Amino acid sequence: MDRIRIVGGNPLSGAIPISGAKNAALPLMIASLLTDDTLTLDNVPRLADVEQLIRILGNHGVDYSVNGRRESQDSGYSRTIHFTARTIVDTVAPYELVSKMRASFWVIGPLLARMGEARVSLPGGCAIGTRPVDLFIEGLRALGADIDIDNGYVVARAKKGLAGGRYRFPKVSVGATHVLMMAATLAKGQTVLENAAREPEIVNLADCLNAMGAKVSGAGTDTITIDGVASLSGARHRVIPDRIETGTYAMAVAMTGGDVVLEGARADLLEAALDVVARSGAEISQTNEGVRVTRNGAGIAPVDVVTEPFPGFPTDLQAQFMGLMTMSTGQATITETIFENRFMHVQELARLGARISLSGQSAVVEGVSKLKGAPVMATDLRASVSLVIAGLAAEGETVINRVYHLDRGFEQLEAKLSRCGATIERLSE
Ligand code: EPZ
Repeated sequence: MDRIRIVGGNPLSGAIPISGAKNAALPLMIASLLTDDTLTLDNVPRLADVEQLIRILGNHGVDYSVNGRRESQDSGYSRTIHFTARTIVDTVAPYELVSKMRASFWVIGPLLARMGEARVSLPGGCAIGTRPVDLFIEGLRALGADIDIDNGYVVARAKKGLAGGRYRFPKVSVGATHVLMMAATLAKGQTVLENAAREPEIVNLADCLNAMGAKVSGAGTDTITIDGVASLSGARHRVIPDRIETGTYAMAVAMTGGDVVLEGARADLLEAALDVVARSGAEISQTNEGVRVTRNGAGIAPVDVVTEPFPGFPTDLQAQFMGLMTMSTGQATITETIFENRFMHVQELARLGARISLSGQSAVVEGVSKLKGAPVMATDLRASVSLVIAGLAAEGETVINRVYHLDRGFEQLEAKLSRCGATIERLSE
């Protein structure tokens, strides 16, 4: 299994190209199930999760082709992929596939809307919490679906098609908003979704659906209205830049010091997070090229954060920010409100010398003046990259095990960081 070796202590300086967003690309790819025409997506990141979803969609009958495919020579970043679901050959998403990636559960929406049936495995447990699917079930029922749970599968039927309805999410859910929005595009009549997620990835999907001929309005606010249409066509659409990758590298620069331009990044997609990084002492500006982050040698100021649905501070940057706070000049409290068990990085950061105590949903981080490298292990994607950030600032060598988590969500991490002066390499076995 691959590992990543980092020798910390170098400031970062230069440019890091920001890739297309994983969490935008996945639902956009799933939207290709809604039409028999070709959906072309630009700026799709090269990530293990994208490859996995391509396999899952293939199982339902989606063909794909990659522009100018020269995989071996091509060291570039994100690419253009064409997806065509001419015929849906299978409306079953089996456990073996869904259990590998939770977002693949989302195929339930388009399959049900287009085919009138879907049988999708329950995703099962996950390292960051229980993550149930009750909101998907309630919401699809509000659109007229009959839903049963049978042998670990959610069996959804709408023999005469879905019908528009009104659904108020009792809790904000990104995935359930994606799914209901997709399903409602082909329902008869109007659907109104209240207390919907407002994440930029939701807006990116709504824009794509509209380019395919859907009638979606209000995405980006908490009320989304969808007027159903009889069918959707193909379209060409661009994946937005990854705001979590942007925030991660901004925090890395705030940690090591230096001056980096995050090329192609959009500050408006992560204002709450960049504001917190600025309060910790970094300078942040939007330039024509992207987002520039600089920090001189002054100490890292402690800042308290609470994770919230967009536009609040994202849970997907909580671990990275904790990495930054381990070397602050005081005490910072980090409160996780989205997932109940997203603090597994705490004990690994402690192996580098961090002082963190947990109390319920909050972690209290006492800054230390230096971290020392150590072997560490990661349990999920964002936790792994928090260890990378801490390793970049730690004295000596840090080796991160279970790198496959990083490959799920960070395109060419070692290449991007080493171009900016980091000592980081992959040890393959
Ligand atoms: C998306 O997951 C992201 N994944 C996550 O990113 C992200 O952490 C999360 O949104 C929150 O921003 C993708 O976009 C692929 P939710 P999702 O439904 O949609 C509860 C990463 O590292 N809930 O918004 O699965 C749920 O348990 C990943 O890239 C229910 O109770 O998250 C959680 O507490 C990790 N019932 C809360 O809602 C439901 O039916 C928010 O989850 C659905 C969700």
